[in-house]
Amino acid sequence: MDQYAVFGNPIKHSKSPFIHTLFANQTAQQLIYSAIEAPIDDFEATLNQFFAGEGKGCNITVPFKEQAFQYAQQLTDRATLAGAVNTLKLTDDGLIIGDNTDGAGLVLDLKNHHVDLKDARILLLGAGGAARGVCGPLLAELPKELVIANRTFSKAEILANRFNDLGNIKACEFADLNGEFDLIINSTSASLSGEVPPISAILIRPETAIYDMMYSAQATAFNDWAKKLGSRLVIDGLGMLVGQAAESFAIWRGLKPSASQVLTELRHNLSN
Ligand code: ATR
Repeated sequence: MDQYAVFGNPIKHSKSPFIHTLFANQTAQQLIYSAIEAPIDDFEATLNQFFAGEGKGCNITVPFKEQAFQYAQQLTDRATLAGAVNTLKLTDDGLIIGDNTDGAGLVLDLKNHHVDLKDARILLLGAGGAARGVCGPLLAELPKELVIANRTFSKAEILANRFNDLGNIKACEFADLNGEFDLIINSTSASLSGEVPPISAILIRPETAIYDMMYSAQATAFNDWAKKLGSRLVIDGLGMLVGQAAESFAIWRGLKPSASQVLTELRHNLSN
């Protein structure tokens, strides 16, 4: 049977096997999806072994997305722009194609929440790998402006320069942020340590949609902060996780599964 997997380290708590098994049931596809912990210094050999067997495709997560980018024999445009790969597919011709579905997963989830991106003024907090993966797909939705703010300002500038040809994107210091944003996306890892990026509370208006790319059973630190300041729409990254998985599944199997049922079950499992 066709094998799929997610590679990462650590990988024990990955939700991808649960998600993809539900997708396979939903679409009546015969496949096995597992989680594989690759040794930190032996990622490539682990992948070689997988593809030499029944492996037809895989997801890649922390800390291997840049290595997967190097491993792929051919890259999609969005993977090239992201500089990282979260999806590998073995074609019938034996070619390994690298793609990145993270940004598409975010856009899909935002649309599912009826957040308008066209002509929107968007603030993206953070300039690490997670931010780099979503800039291209966000700009493809033609926002009025995409502002990137980061603790280390030079990294925000590098990102803004990298995507400059794709739309109206600029870097800004946290302290200099001003004006009204329609959407604020937190891509920093600050929520992992219960912290909130140091932006002014004035930026959080009732109509500002808030998106934290992290998720947890309780509201993330950022979402909790924004909710207390009166934001009416506060979303966490669980839907993005399901969205990127749905995009990967479609790349492998040619069928787009529905995210909503899986998301409901995942949310239920998280809070139990
Ligand atoms: P990822 O792949 O998740 O983006 P990363 O590449 O290590 O991980 O990037 C982490 C991001 O979170 C960076 O933008 C980082 O800011 P710096 O570039 O200044 O390091 C940001 N970050 C992490 N902890 C933060 C905190 N407590 N407050 C604000 N930003 C934080």
